[in-house]
Amino acid sequence: MTKMQNLFSLKGKEKDSQTRLEQSVQQQPEQAVRHIAIIMDGNGRWATKRHLPRLAGHKAGVSALRRVVECAADEHIEMLSVYAFSTENWGRPRSEVDGLMRLFWETIRSDLEKLHRDGVRLRHLGRLYDLPPDLQKAVQDSVDLTKDNTRIGLNVCFNYGGRAELVDAVRQIIADGRDPNTITEELISSYLYTRDLPDPDLVIRTAGEMRVSNFLLWQSAYSEYYATSTLWPDFGHEDLLAALESFQQRQRRFGRVSVPTT
Ligand code: FPP
Repeated sequence: MTKMQNLFSLKGKEKDSQTRLEQSVQQQPEQAVRHIAIIMDGNGRWATKRHLPRLAGHKAGVSALRRVVECAADEHIEMLSVYAFSTENWGRPRSEVDGLMRLFWETIRSDLEKLHRDGVRLRHLGRLYDLPPDLQKAVQDSVDLTKDNTRIGLNVCFNYGGRAELVDAVRQIIADGRDPNTITEELISSYLYTRDLPDPDLVIRTAGEMRVSNFLLWQSAYSEYYATSTLWPDFGHEDLLAALESFQQRQRRFGRVSVPTT
């Protein structure tokens, strides 16, 4: 066989294996999506484009969240984790920080009954103790009220930071006097805010950014990422379906090699 033939036959083989890969992806049964985490970015840009104050963007962001919880429940997603306020967001202008605190509190007041009726289980992920006392109480009450709901989980990451979460876990591990030889990945997971929750299968980030931004650092070790240019307030059912469709095209390998198809 000449060098050229060799090259062509190799190309043929590559093509075959590409076809096999495409077929296997098409034939794969749907991969279950239990947990979707969302970095809800672009509220500010959405508002600025409309000559509105940034807080109007965050309010529109709450409306988008209501829509997405409903769609995700219809799609039988077990839980959502949404990044509503990071430990770094304290560095924003005072008026915006106060506005976000108030918005969270008002949203709990206005939406809690409906969320409870709709079978949504609320959880809070983050440092609750640093939030204003009335907000802490509202959050705790909403978590307690909805704890037996099973339709969908909504984990609100508010005053959440992935690094802060690890710091809190390490502090507690040391406070509990754990023997260093007993520290395992399972043990660390059991000290995180997400203890007992499945890791996210899919992390969605809106508004075109390609950053992790300190979100669920430990838990998203093997999550699939999906980025869209849609600004969060514009995100809806179609966008969620597009993210789910993209997820279905992925081959999750968890650091291993793919399963051979022949
Ligand atoms: C990022 O967009 C968004 C936030 C920091 C806040 C997200 C908050 C909400 C969606 C509403 C609050 C949620 C609850 C549960 C009450 P950005 O402001 O950084 O947007 P930009 O990058 O366009 O400026």
